[in-house]
Amino acid sequence: MTVYVPRDSAARSVGADQVAERIARETRVVRNGSRGMLWLEPLVEVETPAGRVAYGPVTPDDVEDLLASGLLDGAPHRLCLGPTEEIAWLRDQTRVTFARVGVIDPVSPPDYTAHGGLAGLRRALSLTPEQVVAEVTDSGLRGRGGAGFPAGIKWKTVLGAASEPKFVCCNADEGDSGTFADRMLMEGDPFTLIEGMTIAAWAVGASEGYIYVRSEYPDAVATLRAAIDAAYARGWLGKRVLDHDFAFDLFVRVGGGAYICGEETSMLESLEGKRGMVRAKPPIPALEGLFGKPTVVNNVLTLGSVPMILADGAEAFAELGVGHSRGTQVFQLGGNIARGGIVETAFGITLGELVEGYGGGTRSGRPVRAVQVGGPLGAYLPTSRFDLPMDYEEFAAAGAMVGHGGVVVFDDTVDMAGQARFAMEFCAAESCGKCTPCRIGAVRGVEVIDRIVAGENRGANLKLLNDLCHLMTEGSLCAMGGLTPMPVRSALTHFPGDFGATTEERP
Ligand SMILES: Cc1cc2nc3c(=O)[nH]c(=O)nc-3n(C[C@H](O)[C@H](O)[C@H](O)COP(=O)(O)O)c2cc1C
Ligand code: SF4
Repeated sequence: MTVYVPRDSAARSVGADQVAERIARETRVVRNGSRGMLWLEPLVEVETPAGRVAYGPVTPDDVEDLLASGLLDGAPHRLCLGPTEEIAWLRDQTRVTFARVGVIDPVSPPDYTAHGGLAGLRRALSLTPEQVVAEVTDSGLRGRGGAGFPAGIKWKTVLGAASEPKFVCCNADEGDSGTFADRMLMEGDPFTLIEGMTIAAWAVGASEGYIYVRSEYPDAVATLRAAIDAAYARGWLGKRVLDHDFAFDLFVRVGGGAYICGEETSMLESLEGKRGMVRAKPPIPALEGLFGKPTVVNNVLTLGSVPMILADGAEAFAELGVGHSRGTQVFQLGGNIARGGIVETAFGITLGELVEGYGGGTRSGRPVRAVQVGGPLGAYLPTSRFDLPMDYEEFAAAGAMVGHGGVVVFDDTVDMAGQARFAMEFCAAESCGKCTPCRIGAVRGVEVIDRIVAGENRGANLKLLNDLCHLMTEGSLCAMGGLTPMPVRSALTHFPGDFGATTEERP
C-alpha cells in the first residue's frame, strides 16, 4: 500500500508535510513531485490495483475523515478526483520533459531507471559527440530560458572550440515573474537534469558542470544535492560515467539573489565568485565562458528535454510543435487565475486555450483584461490576442515573446499604466549598472510615465517615452535594458486609456 504526497515546495507551502506525516502513521508514504495542478495541492494519490486515485486539495484536518472513508482503498469521498491520469487538465497534456514529475520518487535511482531514466545517456554514449550534437540540432530544440537560441548550434560551437577544460552550466536562476517550471523539475525529477547535463558534457567534451540555482529555492538545492550524491554512488557521475572512458563532475552553486544573475554572462561572473555584472559579447560564452573557457549555458528545461531527445530520437521531438518552435514547452500559469500550474504541451496551443481553457479564467471571477507572457520583460496582451499561438516567431511578430513560458493573468481591475511604470521601476532596481541606456534610462522612464499619467505635456512626454524606449532597445548592452520597453510599449498600444489617452488619441 503506497500513498503519494508531494514534497514539492508549492505543495509544502500549503501543508503537504503535515498531511504526509498524518498518513504515514497508517501506511507507507512516498514523497513525489507535484503533478502541477497547483490549485489542488496538497494532492494525495493512492496506489490501487486500477492505478492511482487522486484526492485534493487535502488539508491536515481532512486526513482522519479520508482514512475513515477508505482512502487507502481509493474509496469515494468529496475530495476524490478519480484516477489521476484521467483528470482532464492532466490527461490532455503532452508531458515529455515532465513525464516523470509527480510519478516517481524524485531521489530514488531505481524509480528513475524503472521509468525510462538513463536511456538517453546510454544511447548518447554509444554515439560520437558529433552524432549527439547532430541529434540535438535535428530535434529543433531551442533554448527554453528566454532567447530561444538553437541548442545544437551552441553545442557545436563548444565542441569545435580548441581550448580546455570545457564546462556545462545550467541556468537555474529562474528569475522571471510567474515562472516555476525549472524549480518543479529540479524538485520533482532532478535526475533528468543531471542526465541532460551529462549528455551535454559528452557531446561537447566538457569535464565539469555547474547548476546555478537561485537562493530562493532551498528545496531544489537540497533535492539536487541528494540526487547528485546518489548519481555518484551509482557511477552515473564521476571518473567513469556508466563505465565509459568519460569523466564528468557536477556541482550545485547557490545564486547571488539578483535578477540580472540570470543573464548568462552575469551568471558566469557570479559562478566565478564575482558580482553579477553583464559581460560584453563577443566573446560568446560558447568560446570564452566560465573562467574564460568554452562553456555551454543552457536553461533547466532545455537540458531537461535532452534525455528524451536522445532516448526517442530527434524525430519524435521534432514531430511536435509548429513552425520553428519544435517540441513541447512547459507553460506556467500564474497570477489571478482559477487553475494555476504547469501545462506541458506542444508549441502551437493558443494563449486563449491556456488561459481560459486550462486556467479557467481569473481566480477573482472578474473578466480577464491582460496577460503578461515571458516574464517581467514580456509584453502585456489583451484578450483580443487570445488567438495567438504559442510560437516564438508568431509572438515576435505581435511585439511579444514566449520567453520562459510564464503566463501571468490580470483581471479588469489592473492599472496598465501602473504596470508600465513597474516595468521601468523593476529595470531601475535590477539593472547591473554597466550601460547608460538601462541604468539611467529606466529611472527617466519612471519619471516620464508619471508625467504622462498626471497629464503634464502629454504629447511631448509621450514622444519622449517613445524616444527613450527606442534608445533602450537599440543601445542597451543586454536584454535587461533592451527588452524593458516591451511591456511598456505593449501597455501603451493595447491599453492607451489607462495612460489618460483621449478617444481621439487611441489607435
Ligand atoms: C535579464 C535577464 C535575465 C535572464 N534570466 C534567466 C533565467 O533566470 N534563467 C534562464 O535560463 N535564462 C535567463 N536569461 C537568458 C540567459 O541569458 C540565456 O539566454 C539562457 O540561459 C541560455 O539558455 P537557453 O539557450 O537554454 O535558453 C536571462 C536573460 C536576461 C537578459
Ligand atoms: S542593459 Fe542593464 S543589465 Fe544589461 S548590461 Fe546594461 S546596465 Fe547592465
